[in-house]
This record gives sequence, C-alpha cells and structure tokens, in this order.
Amino acid sequence: MKRITLPLAISLLLLAVYGAVKLFKPDLIASSLSKVLLAALLAVFSVALVRAISFVLFDVVFRKRKSREAPALLRVLLNIVLYSVFFLIIYRVALEKELGGFEFVATSTVVSVIIGLALQDTLGNFFAGLSIHVEQPFHILDAIRIESIIGRVEAVTWRTTTVRTNNNTVVIFPNSKVAKETLEVYRLNNLNRHILLVPAPYAIPPQRVISLLRDAVANIANVAREKTPIIRIGNYADSSIVYEVLYWVKDYMWVPDIDAQIRQHMWYIYRRNEIDIPFPVRHVLLEQQEPAIKREGADYDRVIDSVEIFAPLTADEKAAVARSAVKSVYAPGELILRRGDPGDSMFIIYRGNVEVRLPSHDGHAQQVAELKPGSFFGEMALLTGEPRTADVISLSEVETLEIRKGVLQQLLENNAELAEALSHKITERQSRLDEYARAIPEEEKRVKAQTIRRRIQRFFGLD
Ligand code: CMP
Repeated sequence: MKRITLPLAISLLLLAVYGAVKLFKPDLIASSLSKVLLAALLAVFSVALVRAISFVLFDVVFRKRKSREAPALLRVLLNIVLYSVFFLIIYRVALEKELGGFEFVATSTVVSVIIGLALQDTLGNFFAGLSIHVEQPFHILDAIRIESIIGRVEAVTWRTTTVRTNNNTVVIFPNSKVAKETLEVYRLNNLNRHILLVPAPYAIPPQRVISLLRDAVANIANVAREKTPIIRIGNYADSSIVYEVLYWVKDYMWVPDIDAQIRQHMWYIYRRNEIDIPFPVRHVLLEQQEPAIKREGADYDRVIDSVEIFAPLTADEKAAVARSAVKSVYAPGELILRRGDPGDSMFIIYRGNVEVRLPSHDGHAQQVAELKPGSFFGEMALLTGEPRTADVISLSEVETLEIRKGVLQQLLENNAELAEALSHKITERQSRLDEYARAIPEEEKRVKAQTIRRRIQRFFGLD
C-alpha cells in the first residue's frame, strides 16, 4: 500500500503547488517552468496509477484465480507497457510536443521492423519464458527430460532454463527450445514410476525369478515405500526372458543409482542361487569362465572353530559342519533375513558385518546388534520353529555359511551342551529384543530359558 500511497501523496502535493501557481501567478502558467511542474505531477501520478493497476491485476485478480503469486516477469512486462503509454501521454499533454500522424506511423513501423528483426530470437525466448512463468509446467528442483537430457531444474530466467545433470554439468536451454520440445516432467515428491529391465534365463520358472527380484529391490535406499515394487515379465527376448522391475521414486534424479543397486543385488542373488546372467547366444560360443570366488576349506574350518557355541564339538564334527554349510555372498545393504518369515537354517558369518534390526514404535528401524565374523544368526527361528524375530541386513559385502536343520539336528543329538549353549544365547538375545518393550526380571529369564530349551527338544524330537 505504501508503494501506492507515497507517489499519490507526492502527486497531490505537486497538484497543490501547481494550483497555487495557477491561482496566484497565472502569468507563470504559460512558462516552461509550469510545464515541467505539470509533467512531474503527471509522472509521479502515473507511478501511483501503474502500481495500483499492477496491485489489482496481480495481487487481487491473479492470486484469486490461480491461487499463487503472479510471475515477476509478467509484472515487469506490464510495467514497461504502462510506463511507455504514460510517457507518450505526458510527452503530448504536458510538454505539448506532438509527433505528426505520418511521422508517428512511419517511425513506429520502421522501429518495430528493425527491433523485430534484430531481436527475433531474443523476443522468441522472452515470450516462451513468459509462457513458462505463467503456465509453470515445472518448478525449480523438478527433474525434466528435454530431448535425451535429464536434469534437475535450477533456474528459469526470461531467456533460458538451466538444468543440472547427474554428471554435475549444467545445461542451458533457450526458452524457445523448451517451449517447442516435448517435455517429460518428473515432479519432486511425486510418486514417479520407473521400469528397470532385468534378464533371466529361460530355464528358471518365472515365479522363482520374480520372488528373487523382489528380494533384490527390498531395502534399496530411495525407493518410495508407499508403493510396493511390481515384478513382471516384460518380453521373451532372443536369449533371455526380460523381466520388468517397476518401482516408484520421489526424486527421479536417484534413478541411475537405484538401478545400479538393484543390478548389484541381482548379481549376488543370481550367484547364490546358481543362476547365470543370460548373455546373447551366437553360433560360435566363446565363453570365458569367471574366476570362482576363492573358497578354501581351511578358512571355513577356522571360522567354525572360532564359534563359541561349537566349542563342545569334536574336530570331525566341526569339519563336517564346514563341509556341509552352504556358502553365500551378499551385497552391502541386502536383507538377509526378514522379520516374520519362517526359517529353517542358521548362518555363521565368515566375512563382513551384519546388523540386526527391529522396527521401532515410531516406524523407524532400530539397530539391536551388529554381528562380526565368527558370530551366528538365524538360530532363533531354526531352533524354536517360530518366525524370524528380526531383520538381518548386510552392512558390507558379507559371506555366510548356512547350516541347515538336518545338520544341526545331528549335532544336537550328540551334544547336550550345544543345546544348552544355544538356549542360553537365544534367551539372552530374546531378552534384548524384549527390552524394547519392557525389562524382564531375572527369574522370568531363567524360566524362559527352560521353556526355550524344552521347545528346542520338542522341535527336533529330542525329548
Ligand atoms: P531369527 O529369529 O531366526 O532371525 C533373526 C535373527 O536375529 C535371530 O534369529 C537372531 O539370530 C538375531 N538376533 C535377534 N536378536 C538379537 C540380539 N539381541 N542380538 C544379536 N542377534 C540377534
């Protein structure tokens, strides 16, 4: 309001001065001094008028209709037009200068042609920029695709639109190009869907591949949790079935990272399940075998030897465990065990670290423990027959030795101490899990250990 009232007050003051001059010194009215006074009066008044028109048009009408701020560029444009009109009026009325009709038309036509030709591109960009400001097809920080370039919008000026690509390069598009091209806009915080294509061999049943790929997408950072990823067959290609992994992402600029993570998880999952990544088959097949991951029995023996609860086992029994264990490698960040799943095997960490996680009351996962090489996990569901009690996630590349139910059963039959040690460990871990809900008294822990032990014996038919 002050922006309008101030020039209005000044123009009233000038009007008073002008009136006084006209009243008391009428002879001065004809002089050029009074013309200048009148021109100044009109000029200041036109400032108030332009600001009032701009206020009504943009701050009242535009805001009411569109429920947002009017673009600055539009305000500037209107100001230029109105001030030009007022300038011509003041020029004619106050200073009594006139451009003759022919002179005016000729001059304005010539000037328009010259300006039009000289500023053809600039004006094109300007008006395209204007339409981008008014329509707002995208906002700052949205990701857009123009031609083959995907980038995050950093700025839109009256001439250009600037985007930053994932290579951290800045691409500047003239607005006329942005207005002409077909744009793909991935709004920030919108659930943008993306499809990653993943090949799998024809020989593996789709249900199995779909379940494995579901595991590969689980727990990947920046995949929107609001929608569950969908895995489906996309195509029967020459040398593989191509699966589509559909996931949603709120910031589209993360897509290349997420795709890379899924592909990495997929490699490990395929390797663990002895699935080859399909490659194009030609008549002449030159295959170079990838070097197998180094697996030396002696190392596995050493890690089995370091597991505390296996202390009562004989050397032969330990060697048998090392031999029969299924060796698997997990990528960093993979969900190895999921809370609530059934489980009939336990794992010994050969290398790498894992974390045991529980969802907390506020919905965020909470770390219960970090386990290192020589530690074991998965024994609780295996020994009690209950579902998995927590999520177990790899923190680095992790190699595990998986001990199946049958192998453990044999060990338990021959070693009462092993059952004892395991039931104590389970009680200890269970108590820690329960601490999240409430503290458990010592007596209750002792009773619980006995119950767990009985449950283990019943589950393995040892009583
Ligand atoms: P299981 O319930 O089969 O699957 C999740 C595993 O997380 C569980 O077995 C234990 O091996 C492990 N776990 C649960 N709670 C703890 C804890 N407090 N400390 C260490 N490991 C745990």
